[in-house]
Parts: sequence; C-alpha cells; structure tokens
Amino acid sequence: MENLLSPELLIEEAKKARERARAEYSNFKVGAAVQAASGKIYRGCNIESSSYGLTMCAERVAIFNAISSGETEIVQIAVVTNSEKASSPCGACRQVLVDFALESKVYLNNCKDDTRSTTTKSLLPDYFSKVDLLKNI
Ligand code: THU
Repeated sequence: MENLLSPELLIEEAKKARERARAEYSNFKVGAAVQAASGKIYRGCNIESSSYGLTMCAERVAIFNAISSGETEIVQIAVVTNSEKASSPCGACRQVLVDFALESKVYLNNCKDDTRSTTTKSLLPDYFSKVDLLKNI
C-alpha cells in the first residue's frame, strides 16, 4: 500500500487516542490507532463499564471504528499503554486482528522508549478464521 504511515506517527496517533480512555476501574489506559487499506487512520481507546465484563479494549474500538466507517481491511496498528514494558493485545483482540487485520504489522509502545514490532500472524499462530467456516458450508 502507498502512503503507509511511519510507525512513529501511528504511535503518536495511538497516544492521542489514549487520552480519551475511560479506565476508571482498572486505571489502565490504552490507546490504539489503525491504518486502513484506504490510507485513513482511525483511533480507539479502552472504554470500561461499571459492569466490568462489558469493557471494550482499545484495539477493538479502533478496528470497529474503521470497519463501521466502511473500511474492509486494516494494514497496520499501533497500541500504546503507560506500562514498564509495552504490552501486547489480549486474546480476544488477537482474534479480531485475524478477522480484519490478518496481514497487518502491530506496533506496541509504552509511552516511552519501548517499542516492539510484531504481526497479527505471530501474535496468533494456528488461528481460526472465516476460511474454517467456509470449509464447512
Ligand atoms: N485492555 C485493552 O484496551 N487492550 C488490551 O489488549 C488489554 C486490555 C484494557 C481493557 C481494560 O479496560 C484494561 O485494559 C485492563 O484490562
């Protein structure tokens, strides 16, 4: 894809997204920014509920923001937390990455100087996807 945003700028977008996190129960604020195949950037932050299990992670908010805006594929994603070490997406978000960002690079940053670069496929090897469902129709 042309116009691929640099990891540094995508991380800056995720930091801005993190400012809107609603993390009053865990106090663990997360920001995410995705670049869709169109080139556009979409942000997301974690949003916690007083009924804790309804909480939504930043990664899924960003991905669903893009998809509900008409995008079909995510090409890269940055996730930012303010932790000692950049933290990695939870299992549920990894599945959603497989569904909408299968070929994506994933940049993880801790708001400071720890940035790790990985991919959807290395975060969730031997994944389940729509291909499995289609084989059974
Ligand atoms: N959280 C995320 O936003 N992304 C992840 O991948 C892991 C966890 C959020 C959910 C919850 O609001 C807080 O972090 C603590 O689990």
